[in-house]
Amino acid sequence: MVAVLENPLRIGLQQARVPEPQILVIFGASGDLTQRKLVPALYQMRLERKLPAEITIVGVARREWEHDYFREQMRIGVEEYGGGLQSEEAWQEFAQGLYYCSSDIDKPEDYQKLKAFLSELDEKRGTRGNRVFYLSVAPRFFGEATEQLGAAGMLADPQKHRLVIEKPFGRDLSSAQVLNRVVRRVCAENQVYRIDHYLGKETVQNLMVFRFANAIFEPLWNRQFVDHVQITVAETVGLEGRAGYYETAGALRDMVQNHLMQLFSLTVMEPPNSLDADAIRTEKVKAVQATRLADTSNLELSAIRGQYTAGWMKGKPVPGYREEEGASPESTTGTYVALKLLVDNWRWKGVPFYLRTGKRMPKKVSEIAIQFKEVPFLMFQSASKQVNPNVLALRIQPNEGVSMRFEVKTPGASLRSRSVDMDFRYDTAFGKPSTDAYARLLIDCMLGDQTLFTRDDEVEASWRVITPLLEAWDAPAPPETIPLYEAGTWEPVEAELLLNRDGRRWRRL
Ligand code: BG6
Repeated sequence: MVAVLENPLRIGLQQARVPEPQILVIFGASGDLTQRKLVPALYQMRLERKLPAEITIVGVARREWEHDYFREQMRIGVEEYGGGLQSEEAWQEFAQGLYYCSSDIDKPEDYQKLKAFLSELDEKRGTRGNRVFYLSVAPRFFGEATEQLGAAGMLADPQKHRLVIEKPFGRDLSSAQVLNRVVRRVCAENQVYRIDHYLGKETVQNLMVFRFANAIFEPLWNRQFVDHVQITVAETVGLEGRAGYYETAGALRDMVQNHLMQLFSLTVMEPPNSLDADAIRTEKVKAVQATRLADTSNLELSAIRGQYTAGWMKGKPVPGYREEEGASPESTTGTYVALKLLVDNWRWKGVPFYLRTGKRMPKKVSEIAIQFKEVPFLMFQSASKQVNPNVLALRIQPNEGVSMRFEVKTPGASLRSRSVDMDFRYDTAFGKPSTDAYARLLIDCMLGDQTLFTRDDEVEASWRVITPLLEAWDAPAPPETIPLYEAGTWEPVEAELLLNRDGRRWRRL
């Protein structure tokens, strides 16, 4: 436990302003993300008066839904996946601002129809021409939807029109470059919000504050003191009925290129000159641009993928990946990836960064662990014959917090040491649950703050790092070539070897 003291330091990351009245247009509104995450987050923000009363949401998808049906679906979302309605009156007020417009993503006339509808809503709801277009459609439609919005003149006003693009942004470096070109043709970079919901997580934002608002960590944050870094994002869920998307994405595109690379770049970056969005993003890009796989001539020394087989989760049997609905029985899609990255710059030269993510792991846990070097000379006898190096663990989720492991003397006559943890937990220190990541990001976007969104050069830099793996793993391969792990267990043995070869092991979490 750590006592929380009032700190007069104002960290500019937190916005307290309320956005102007506007219309949020969600493409792909019949999908899970809208019902489970986006609308519940927006409703909560409205309850907390962080959004104005005029806030208007237009769901767009191909299905022929009525406004009322859309409202019912969103109500279910708030009740089942959000914090509940709180009051019928509050819901009714919010639901009046929910509309639905059936459209085909590739039909220009549908964009004209949408444009006319949005102008009508401006009159009715007082939204003053302010628009956010959120592309929550299958990634292959991002380019088409952007082009059509541009052609219909819906992104023409840089002050009033914004575009949010979900991940993954492209399938590889060249498709991301093509998509960036499409985006650039129709609008300016300051209208574009490439969203990665990990950046909206409180603990991820805390990384910068932790590093740059404390004098004691930064001097140690380099190759002189750090032995290696482990970044883990383990999930217990499996495919969740998303085979159509996941079979072509796999953990590398679904998690590594975006979420893990964000955690990585915030850990590796140099201090920015200011808290200005571009100052921060420039430092992140520089960090990723200096990064490479440890050994590109022998990829197995840099990366391992794996796939889960049938197993047990919480006492219940679960199917293997190849038995999941929609997955190919011969699939070589990786549901687990482990990587070893190196950063070629003065701060980090020679320090390995091990990243891993997997589905159907025994626990849902995300953390960044900085393992420091061993002491140069040990004069004590330790209880376990070995002294554990110091570890600073930043827990992203769950049990959000920070812990520091160090050695202490065990009581008694002999001079023996043992490892103990000093622990800070968000919930005990601050009590209330942190703002939902999507809520935070949607508000930032409406306020025009791009700090927590990925810039064009950043997204390209992170695709560049994993390009050799995409090329190798996208090539057709016999199903037996992919390492397997049983659902409910940690990584495949091959991934253990990745660290064992360096005389290290994965943290048991
Ligand atoms: C999404 C991925 O971006 O992140 C999912 O597409 C994954 O596959 C999810 O399950 C994990 O997010 P969180 O916030 O639950 O860690």
